[in-house]
Amino acid sequence: MSSIEKMFMLYGLPLPRETHSVDSLKFAQDFKFKDDDVVAVTYPKSGTIWMQEILPLVLNGGDLTPIHTIPNWDRVPWLEEKRLAVVVDQLASPRALVSHFPYHLMPPSFSTSKAKVIYVMRNPKDLMVSSYYFHQMAEFLEDPGTFDEFMDKFLEGKVLFGKWTDHIKSWTKTELGDRIMFITYEDMVQDLPAALRRISSFLGRNLSEEVIQKIAEHCSFKTMKSNRMSNFSLVPKVYMDNDKSHFFRKGITGDWKNHFSSEQLARFTSVIRKELEGESFSLPWSMD
Ligand code: A3P
Repeated sequence: MSSIEKMFMLYGLPLPRETHSVDSLKFAQDFKFKDDDVVAVTYPKSGTIWMQEILPLVLNGGDLTPIHTIPNWDRVPWLEEKRLAVVVDQLASPRALVSHFPYHLMPPSFSTSKAKVIYVMRNPKDLMVSSYYFHQMAEFLEDPGTFDEFMDKFLEGKVLFGKWTDHIKSWTKTELGDRIMFITYEDMVQDLPAALRRISSFLGRNLSEEVIQKIAEHCSFKTMKSNRMSNFSLVPKVYMDNDKSHFFRKGITGDWKNHFSSEQLARFTSVIRKELEGESFSLPWSMD
């Protein structure tokens, strides 16, 4: 497949044909949010699959059945992907979803509901590295080219879901008040039980320390990497080629230091700083 065939543009965003379509985007727009729904929103490679493991466990008090019996994409489906229409009727309330949508593409029913959002942010340098390897193994995405070429595409927003800066700007400007919680991938790596306590309290769950520790153990990088319902080993090699790179690649912070030259760091930082100039929020990471 050529790059052009693999991706298409909708709402100004490059999307993969394999997983998204005009109909799936329409289905998302017509989706009826319920008050007790929870949606984890991420720019790709910020910790989406991690939240697909965490959310059912927090919502059900640590029952491992869903993470051991349902593939992640059906367990906590993407709002915008084709698969949602297939599984929507099987989702038990409280429902958990994930989405890469910028805020303005959320459906009208989202605004009128009380559904909650957990927005997961990740240092853009690390998520770009993660995305570079993901583009190598995900056959439904275009070839990333060299790391340097991929950096240009990333900075120009010619990648999955467009510019990172647009995504983060859209979600930090909402008027969702206490319906939205922000958390970083770095917080989760540093102290997962603490992150789980925050998530559990945000979702109105009063989980015991024993349950928090149990969830943390099952959501560790090592355990998730060996969970076949979450590690994408069920996906045929024509879609995801684990010989090229693993989905569960490193699961660490700061890997960008092993990839960026000083020139690339300066270029990256200057573009991101410029695009975030004048914004009222400050980034939780140093950009240098
Ligand atoms: P790396 O490629 O840096 O390893 P997404 O799910 O949004 O596509 O993000 C994928 C990234 O999250 C990958 O990063 C993956 O390894 C990481 N990840 C997934 N589960 C994780 C976990 N339990 N702990 C740490 N990182 C995790």
